[in-house]
Amino acid sequence: MTHRILILGGTTEARQLAEKLAARASVTLSLAGRTESPVAQGVPVRSGGFGGADGLVAYLREKRTDLLIDATHPYAARISANAAQAARVAGVPILALRRPGWEPVEGDRWTLVDTVDDAVQALGAAPRRVFLALGRQEVGAFDAAPQHHYLIRSVDPVEPKLAVPDATYLLARGPFREDDERALLETHRIEIVVSKNSGGAATYGKIAAARALGIEVVMVQRPDLPDVPSAETVEVLAALVDQFGIDHFVGPAAERGV
Ligand SMILES: NC(=O)c1ccc[n+]([C@@H]2O[C@H](COP(=O)([O-])OP(=O)(O)OC[C@H]3O[C@@H](n4cnc5c(N)ncnc54)[C@H](OP(=O)(O)O)[C@@H]3O)[C@@H](O)[C@H]2O)c1
Repeated sequence: MTHRILILGGTTEARQLAEKLAARASVTLSLAGRTESPVAQGVPVRSGGFGGADGLVAYLREKRTDLLIDATHPYAARISANAAQAARVAGVPILALRRPGWEPVEGDRWTLVDTVDDAVQALGAAPRRVFLALGRQEVGAFDAAPQHHYLIRSVDPVEPKLAVPDATYLLARGPFREDDERALLETHRIEIVVSKNSGGAATYGKIAAARALGIEVVMVQRPDLPDVPSAETVEVLAALVDQFGIDHFVGPAAERGV
């Protein structure tokens, strides 16, 4: 019998994992549906929220999902919490792909903060030239500090625009190379970068470029995520599924109430 895997995605790794697992199972990739033109995913995609953990339980039951994989972005805390809870309630095994965060290295000038609001405060009172490499949902918090100049990069346009007098908007989708990031920081005479600790190579360029230029980084720390069995890379997660076979993670149907 072909097993059914639901991968919660919205990340490059989720797409790669979906393609890898598609050869041995029936894979559906789930996207939140926020990005206006997401990149082609190569496997069947469903899009939009489930309606909380309860909605996800209903979906898992309806589709008779055998394995749930949470491969969402490390800052997507709500869907990860919903996934852990829904898996428990529906009796569906869950695995997570948890990309490790970046660690500071010699030369980095990081200020660690817990929230985007704290990042706004960390910029200080004096006007500075700030690069915001955050999702468009988060940048609104910087309305509270209109004295700075902002360079704001996002995949989709920031709407509404910030209510600050001095902001430049840039539309781009990663991966971003260190050389290009360095040129960007220099061209815009950036003094401080605000970033999430996304981990991975695709968006590390700005961190390496900031280090090379001696520029400060305000690093918004990761949210707490539920404790579920996890792997750090696509390869390890796919190997886990291979090594044990999907049946290893799947309990008898009776236990799952299907
Ligand atoms: N946060 C980031 O920095 C970031 C960066 C890159 C990519 N992403 C991706 O963007 C998406 C949204 O991120 P977020 O931070 O807004 O998430 P979030 O705050 O954890 O989730 C908010 C709601 O969006 C829906 N949702 C999120 N991911 C979903 C998915 N893969 N499939 C179906 N519904 C999903 C869920 O709605 P219901 O409760 O109605 O089910 C969830 O409760 C995620 O897929 C994430 O992987 C996020």
